[in-house]
Parts: sequence; C-alpha cells; structure tokens
Amino acid sequence: MTLPNSNSIATSLPLYNFSGGVGLLPPTVISEAQQAILEVPGTRISALVINHRSQLCRDILDETEKNLRTLLTIPDNYHILFLQGGASLQFSMIPMNLWVNKNQPVDYLVSGYWSSKAIKEAEIEKKNVNIIWNGKAQKFVRVPRPDEYQIDPDAAYVHYYSNETVEGLQFENPLETGDIPLVCDMSSDFLAKPIDISKYALIYAHAQKNIGAAGVTVVIIRDDLLECIPDNIPTILDYRPHVEMKSIYNTPPIFAIYVVLLVTRWLLNDIGGLTNMAQQSQHKAALLYKAIDESQGFYRGHAQVDSRSLINVVFNLATPNLERQFIETAERLGIIGLEGHRSLGGIRASLYNSMPVEGALYLQNFMLEFQQQFKGQQQ
Ligand SMILES: Cc1ncc(COP(=O)(O)O)c(C=O)c1O
Repeated sequence: MTLPNSNSIATSLPLYNFSGGVGLLPPTVISEAQQAILEVPGTRISALVINHRSQLCRDILDETEKNLRTLLTIPDNYHILFLQGGASLQFSMIPMNLWVNKNQPVDYLVSGYWSSKAIKEAEIEKKNVNIIWNGKAQKFVRVPRPDEYQIDPDAAYVHYYSNETVEGLQFENPLETGDIPLVCDMSSDFLAKPIDISKYALIYAHAQKNIGAAGVTVVIIRDDLLECIPDNIPTILDYRPHVEMKSIYNTPPIFAIYVVLLVTRWLLNDIGGLTNMAQQSQHKAALLYKAIDESQGFYRGHAQVDSRSLINVVFNLATPNLERQFIETAERLGIIGLEGHRSLGGIRASLYNSMPVEGALYLQNFMLEFQQQFKGQQQ
C-alpha cells in the first residue's frame, strides 16, 4: 500500500467505512433491500408500502422473530419486540416499566459515555439511582471485575452495557445478578457472538450497528417482567401492548424490520450462525490490536487489554495533529469513519458484523505504512 500525498480520493480503491454510529450492511443485504423497494420477492408489493395489518407484514415480523430465536436460542418465555425511538427510548421505557416500587433501588453500572446517559433518564423517575461502579475517575479505560461491584439484594433491576461504543470496552461475560433482573444495552455487540439469554431479563439493541438500518430497536423481554408494570404510563411506552399486539400495536417501521430480516437470513445462511460470526469478530479485532501492540507506542490503545472491545477499537496517536493526518490520509485510501467520538477524540475503528475481515486487514496495512512514514513524529 502506498500512501497518497495529494488530496484526491482514490476512487479505484475499495471503500471501508469504520464509522461507530451506524455500521455497514452486507452488500447482498443492500441489493436485496434495493430489490425489495421495487417488490418484496413474490408479492408484487414494495417493502416501502406494506400495510401493517396485512399478512405480509405479519409474515415479515414472524420470520424475523423466528430467525432471532434460532440465532440466539431464545427461550419461549421471552418476547421479542420491534420498537421505535432508538436505544435512547429504552433508557426511559426501562425505568418507567420496571421500576415499579420507588422505595426499591435500581442498580446502574457506569462504564462509559452511553451508560452515563442511560442513568439520566432513570433519574427522571426518581433521583436516587444506585451506581454500583463508576469508571469515570479512571477515564473509562476498563470494565470492572465481578468483585468490584455489589448488587443491592433489593434492587428492582441492574442495568449495564455489554459494549461501550465510545470508549471501546466490552464485558466478556454478563454480570452475575442472581435473581435480580439483569437489563443490558447490547446495541453495539448484539448478534456478534452467542449469548446465554437466560442470564438476562431484558436486552435491547438498536438496529443500525449490527443488525440493520436505523429505525427499529429490538427488545427481548422475559415474560414475568410484564406482570408488575404500572398502569399509569402512556400506552405507547408500556411494553405490554407491544407484546399483546406482537409489535403491531401501531404502525411498525416495516422497511427497517425487513432489513433486519435480511441480515438475520445472512447470518444464518451465509455466515452460518453466531459462533462463526464471533470467530470473524475476534480475527478482525486481533488484526488491529496487533498493529497497536507492536507499534512501540506509536498507536496507544485507550482500553486496558483485558477490557478491550472486539467491536470498537479506540486508540490515540501522539498528537491531535498526527491523528488528523492519520484520518485524512486514510480517507484518501478509501478508509473512512475513523474519527473518535466527539466526547473522546482520537481514533475509533468499528468492526461491526458486516465489516469483512479484508477491511480490517486493509486498515491494519494502512496503520503499518502510516507508522513507518510518520514514526519520527511520535513524541
Ligand atoms: C451502546 C449504545 N447505546 C445507545 C445509543 C443511542 O442509540 P440511539 O441513537 O438509537 O438512540 C448508542 C449510540 O450510538 C450506543 O452506541
């Protein structure tokens, strides 16, 4: 790979988008979605105009649900919902629905930017959210060990993030909470590896990183949680009507759900399930962390090694100036979306499910070349 020295974008090169906010989609999914805009195969109806009370809409929702159940081995006592409002609406819906008795505490683990945001919404319900661990003082460089946090035995639920998208931190295993319902935002690593659903009471994940296009959020909720939901919350924010109407309480974002369906088919038929997906994920992350670890300090990983995310690889170079140069040079080679989150700066390479291994390899090569050329500017 030769580094370009002009400002021209090399259109003959591949384009790899490492953006953290919205992930890629597999090329086959994009072309199937394109086809479905004209006609969902065999139906003569565009996916953009499917009536939500039609059998076609029901079939799309049912197959998407079935595929998710197969991919994640979701037991029958869990409901799968396709909701709107993004992951952010779940920050509010969760305390509204699950924090019934306000004399009970709710436990939140703060491991990064996004978990800090979720707490603010819970605090609208009541001020005294119980923070069981907070990585802020250490600048969110790691997730805690199990012996570092204490779950309140009376907590209504425990909320945490399996993967912090901004800082690039990931829990290897779910928190152990015993009988206390465990709630998890999995927006940035959902369907990237097999998980044991029975450890969780509620999982939510917006579509736009790993499983589709923006517009739909998947919520997996255990049946017993529905029994205690208070009656004084607005209907649209109450999980129960969505469960009762199987995600068609009101008009669902059917095209976005259709894209999730295509991604689940791709995961099942082309990738061969989540064990294979996890292997790819490990391989991609290993390529980038190798470039960081062998760079003799030219690249400086943000996360401590045992907390590193396989999905969001976050690192710095010696100066913001060098980082800018890194990003701009990468862009001219067709490597885009590398800017770190605005709250943190630096570089973030996001390796969501649809990023091919070749993309990570291409970036790794670029990192090596860039280091070679600019190592004199390390200090
Ligand atoms: C882990 C995580 N949760 C929640 C959000 C917010 O999601 P949304 O924009 O769908 O509300 C983000 C945004 O990127 C995120 O990374």
